[in-house]
Amino acid sequence: GCGTAADADAVGPPDGRLTMGFSQVGSESGWRTANTKSIQESAAAAGVELLFSDAQQSRDRQIEAIRSFIAQRVDVIAFSPVVETGWDPVLLEARQAGIPVILTDRAIQTSDSSLYQSFLGSDFIEEGNKAGTWLSDLYNTAEEPVSIVEIRGTEDSAPAIERKLGFGAAIAQNPNLKIVASASGDFTRAGGKAVMRDFLASTPDIDVLYAHNDDMGLGAIEAIEEAGEVPGEDIKIITVDAVREGMEALIDGKINYIVECNPLLGPQLMELARKIVAGERVLQRVVTEETVFERSGALAALPGRRY
Ligand code: AHR
Repeated sequence: GCGTAADADAVGPPDGRLTMGFSQVGSESGWRTANTKSIQESAAAAGVELLFSDAQQSRDRQIEAIRSFIAQRVDVIAFSPVVETGWDPVLLEARQAGIPVILTDRAIQTSDSSLYQSFLGSDFIEEGNKAGTWLSDLYNTAEEPVSIVEIRGTEDSAPAIERKLGFGAAIAQNPNLKIVASASGDFTRAGGKAVMRDFLASTPDIDVLYAHNDDMGLGAIEAIEEAGEVPGEDIKIITVDAVREGMEALIDGKINYIVECNPLLGPQLMELARKIVAGERVLQRVVTEETVFERSGALAALPGRRY
């Protein structure tokens, strides 16, 4: 929000060089790798001294990293919260130390939204909605039930919760569409492969796979091929992210539709940090712009893509 503890000592760093502590979720996916690179490159370009810490998908490790940033008296803390809940105590510690906090990529649940200054990232409900709307339209003349399996992201993470919600709301428009199985693959390729293998063994006649990211979709494709089925044909596949390998699978016809999630948050994050430390007002919510891809769009976009 505007007008919180950060304003009290909004003089900024004495030498003009801003120090940011950034706690990253992990390195679970191609998206995350591109996101980390964007943050590191943008910090260097903006002359921001970056203390970077990888939490390996653990909330406890993120809390430890944030505490260490507070102890080191950084000018600003940014983090991408692995799960939605459990942040209030450490954010209160940051406030007491007069250090402003920016959320990137993933939101939190809190009783006090003034514990952070701004949240920069995608609208995950909208992403799920786009996936479900495309599927509803694809099967709008179907007369038989369509069996969907879902591979969700990390349990209790904002993108897993919201991509499920948005998708569910959109497919409710078409009574033939039914989610027959759903499990978490933790946003990793290995997780996606293991979950899909289980689904193929336990669930007959799967028509559609909705995976909450490209990596899990790519892992699932391996499982589908090992089971002797043709991904993209026998089983239609929708994913989220649009990283390079996902786009290549879309071009190869193994994925049918990708909803983009933009990982290149670095430049906007550095700009927000600079303004907040200077005591300027910022929006509490900054939503990333994103698109969707079918094969033709992927063919056109891939050459100019940086990740
Ligand atoms: O929070 C964004 C999600 O996290 C990405 O969609 C996924 O690939 C990553 O692991």
